[in-house]
Amino acid sequence: MNTTNPPARSGRFAGAPNTDAGQFTESVSFDWRLWRQDIAGSIAHARMLHRIGLLDRAERDAIAAGLEAIAGEIQAGRFPWRADLEDVHMNIEAALTARTPAGAKLHTGRSRNDQVALDMRMWLRDELAALDGELRLLQRAMVGLGQRQPSVAAPGYTHLQRAQPVYLAHHLLAYVEMVARDRQRFAQCRERLNVCPLGAGALAGSSLPLDREWIARELGFVDSRGKPRTAQNSMDAVSDRDFALEFCAGAAILAVHLSRLAEDIVIWSSAEFGYIRIDDAYTTGSSLMPQKKNPDIAELARGKSGRVIGNLMSLLVLLKGLPMTYNRDLQEDKKPLFDTADTVRATVRILAAMLDHSRFDAVRCDAAAKDPALLATDLADDLVRQGVPFREAHHAVGAAVARAEQQGVSLDRLTAADFARIHPRFGPDVLATFDLARAMRQRQSTGSTGTAQVRRQLRLWSRRLAKP
Ligand code: ARG
Repeated sequence: MNTTNPPARSGRFAGAPNTDAGQFTESVSFDWRLWRQDIAGSIAHARMLHRIGLLDRAERDAIAAGLEAIAGEIQAGRFPWRADLEDVHMNIEAALTARTPAGAKLHTGRSRNDQVALDMRMWLRDELAALDGELRLLQRAMVGLGQRQPSVAAPGYTHLQRAQPVYLAHHLLAYVEMVARDRQRFAQCRERLNVCPLGAGALAGSSLPLDREWIARELGFVDSRGKPRTAQNSMDAVSDRDFALEFCAGAAILAVHLSRLAEDIVIWSSAEFGYIRIDDAYTTGSSLMPQKKNPDIAELARGKSGRVIGNLMSLLVLLKGLPMTYNRDLQEDKKPLFDTADTVRATVRILAAMLDHSRFDAVRCDAAAKDPALLATDLADDLVRQGVPFREAHHAVGAAVARAEQQGVSLDRLTAADFARIHPRFGPDVLATFDLARAMRQRQSTGSTGTAQVRRQLRLWSRRLAKP
């Protein structure tokens, strides 16, 4: 480790920090990930300083060239990151100053406090763009599986008890809707975070004539009409981490959705259900039991949601007691933020790939979907169509279920005469109600699992998801 005094200590401090203190306070071991945004922000800052006359052209160009060379080194894995330089910002600035004396002018009108706020907003903006693309592919994978097997039905469950038949495409489309809301939440998060903090300085702004609007526009902090969006309060700008909270909250909701999907897949792939077959490439074996094929990807998707939820809690607790404005505690915002982004993005990608390599076991699903008890509600609806009040119809069908149970037969083995004895409004064609395909066709209201409805939703979503 280099023992010369790092830039943030020069002048005021007598010597290098204690080694343990340095190790305890450094962040470059994790915030090095912000290098791209840090360099883009610094190049824009140097250009702005030139525009307002604080850098001459040669200085501006030397800074830009130096930063680009450093970016090349980092990209190639050849950059000597130094823990004694604390963080990504100081590492890059020190390397720049070693290349060109103009580097010593780069930090004019800037603090690491507004710099790190800028870098994180830009980093998250990039992550959100990538995540949105991946979420779209996950939606497409779900719609794709539904479209490959649109007519496979299975029992739908409440209380994990068989309730009514549903198309599995309909079941998947439920998750497509959830993910659509997740994407909206992230889009709103992006909208609110896209405000430029640069110019806030350490906390109070600057006495220099910084052109905040110019740099905001330069770095893409603009509204839908191209007007620059700059933070309107310097104290808020350096200490606000709402954007990280909103992202982690949105990600926690997404992770819960993914976890529920994963749980459905785990259940479906058990021998007891057997509704889904996952390609071998996306399952794992047991080190002991040779027959096992385990849905580990789904289990880990479920398990990792715990950390994503925990990261939101970490961040909330980190922030709740901080006095204004910047406090070093804020450096601890990065690990939960990075971990959340990495975890949800990896989970979304692998679930999409797994669904692309899965198919429903139509035979097993059909056998389960044909359970006549699933259509008990349809029997009650038959009576309702004959003018019978629903409560009375519900009671009559309940009596029929009890009768079948007494006789030890399934509901569709009762005769039309049995039904007529239970309620006179059951007609001679009552047994036709147990025709599953007919029952599915009859569900015609918006959002129901009816045959035409589900086909329509599959078409709508596949069109909607065709283009980014
Ligand atoms: N590494 C710091 C962080 O991530 C950068 C800002 C440090 N500012 C300061 N005044 N020490 O929060």
